[in-house]
Amino acid sequence: MAAVYDFAWIDALSESNLCVLLALPVYEQLRTRSTAEQALRLEGEFAEFGVNTGLLSAMIFKLTALPETDKRFFLFDTNEGIPFEQANENERGNTEFMNRSLSKHDVYAVAMEVFSSYKNAVLVKRILPQSLADVEIDKLCFVSVDLNLVKPEIEVINEMWDKLVPGAFVVLDDYGFTGHSDQHTAWNDFAASKGRSVFLCPTGQGLLQK
Ligand SMILES: C[S@@+](CC[C@H](N)C(=O)[O-])C[C@H]1O[C@@H](n2cnc3c(N)ncnc32)[C@H](O)[C@@H]1O
Repeated sequence: MAAVYDFAWIDALSESNLCVLLALPVYEQLRTRSTAEQALRLEGEFAEFGVNTGLLSAMIFKLTALPETDKRFFLFDTNEGIPFEQANENERGNTEFMNRSLSKHDVYAVAMEVFSSYKNAVLVKRILPQSLADVEIDKLCFVSVDLNLVKPEIEVINEMWDKLVPGAFVVLDDYGFTGHSDQHTAWNDFAASKGRSVFLCPTGQGLLQK
């Protein structure tokens, strides 16, 4: 069973030129797959905020029945790195570090290639939250948030929350990691404001369900 996930993960990595991440635990793949599979049973579409070359979203296309459905997967990113001007004081160092490694190749060209065979992939290349206006989204059942910045992450969820159907999943990539405590606190506050709490996965990701 694990081998199936490993092969899909290795495929996604090599397509994205990100072989350095080969050691990511199988558990992370299982969590992503099972969350996306449960979301497929709900009404609504998929969105990822912070796609880069599409590692996580490519895994979802590879491991679930999403390609055979009419659900679109909206893939939001500047495709030009993390906007430094949106980083707060605590985030600036990591933003500079991330942008150095994220800009090693033409992210948009790789993403276009990665998603070229999926008819329901919709790449939205512009800064968030402004780019939310570039597409019409009615309902969402699965959202992944991986912007590495607290301000746009919370702006996006504030705008999108009413579009999430009951039971929809929000996967928070950075939630439990050292160096991301501002995101951790802000997401806890957001969840509490909706009468909910974020589940901390053993992989460090957070999972919030509407
Ligand atoms: C850590 S990467 C995402 C990795 C991706 N989830 C994956 O599975 O490989 C963070 C991405 O967020 C994007 N990003 C950060 N802030 C953004 C914003 N305000 N608008 C659009 N994209 C943004 C960056 O361009 C970068 O590609």
